[in-house]
Amino acid sequence: MTYILGIDSSCDDTSASVVADGSRILSNVVSSQAEIHGKYGGIVPELASRRHIEMIWPVVDEALKAASVWLEGLSGIAVCHGPGLIGSLLVGCSFAKAVAYAKGVPLIGVNHLEGHIFSVFLLDRRPSFPFLSLIVSGGHTSLVRVDGFGSYRELGRTRDDAAGEAYDKVAKLLGLGYPGGPLIDDLAGRGDPEAIPFPRALIPGTYDFSFSGLKTAVRNHVERSSGEPSRLEDVCASFQAAVVDVLVKKTEAAVKEEGIRSVALSGGVAANRRLRAAMNEMAGRVGAELYIPPVALCTDNAAMIAAAGHLHLMNGDVAGLDLNPKAYLPI
Ligand code: KG4
Ligand code: ZN
Repeated sequence: MTYILGIDSSCDDTSASVVADGSRILSNVVSSQAEIHGKYGGIVPELASRRHIEMIWPVVDEALKAASVWLEGLSGIAVCHGPGLIGSLLVGCSFAKAVAYAKGVPLIGVNHLEGHIFSVFLLDRRPSFPFLSLIVSGGHTSLVRVDGFGSYRELGRTRDDAAGEAYDKVAKLLGLGYPGGPLIDDLAGRGDPEAIPFPRALIPGTYDFSFSGLKTAVRNHVERSSGEPSRLEDVCASFQAAVVDVLVKKTEAAVKEEGIRSVALSGGVAANRRLRAAMNEMAGRVGAELYIPPVALCTDNAAMIAAAGHLHLMNGDVAGLDLNPKAYLPI
């Protein structure tokens, strides 16, 4: 039996979780900073780091208490060491190193994207290798072929904005709040996805994505139509349809060309209702198995870091106290 304490402070949420045997979540505590950054329409890195410092111990303490596991009883402390905001990462890493050293517990460094990939290992039904993993979050949009633990090939990635970033920027220009994804998702549910033919950047011959042109198209549409404005719901629904279309089409192409029949979806944008439905429809059509975690495991959380940490530990991959966070860290 292993008990892994996972810690994630890579962006604007402070999270700690205890996971048993790499798959059973005993606790998963997330302290959101949305209220702090909301009034700026995006994350302010300095404020994020300061809030992590305040919250890291209370969040870890709550996770341990909820799991009835104490620091001395841990098999390992898995901490996200990148990619992310460097000041935010430093808080989690320094904390994890200090506790690991003081209590003599193995330290494990986990890549944030690897965490998102293995969030599906927390489900009752998990994919077997090889599988395709579409990671769609505020910082990343990547389509990864996963042949085994530690064996990843990034088939495509965004060339500019991440999908979640596009949601957040469009929400900002529409005067909605932050984070924009859930707000647009809600409004889109009451709009017509075919009202405005926004462009789909289906760059040929590659699995890469691009969302900045779509964001500009929404801005141009809003500026041009100030005389007779479109319904906000229709703008949201049409924007969302364009994002989802591209994500699903590229994934479908990879399923066919790579000959892989298991698809995992993760990251904050995987909480999106249209994306979940469209992926489901595509999987049914091409005969693929689809794995999507519940919303709480799509957005940033430490349970996914603990799940990936368990795999590192089983492979004897333990970090030294020289583990340093990296803002840019490829998988
Ligand atoms: O994975 P995550 O929590 O953090 C990063 O690693 O970036 O993803 C956050 C992103 C934000 O951009 C947020 O707007 C987006 O996920 N998001 C959504 C939804 N819920 C969160 N986007 C679309 N629809 C949603 N329901
Ligand atoms: Zn994330």
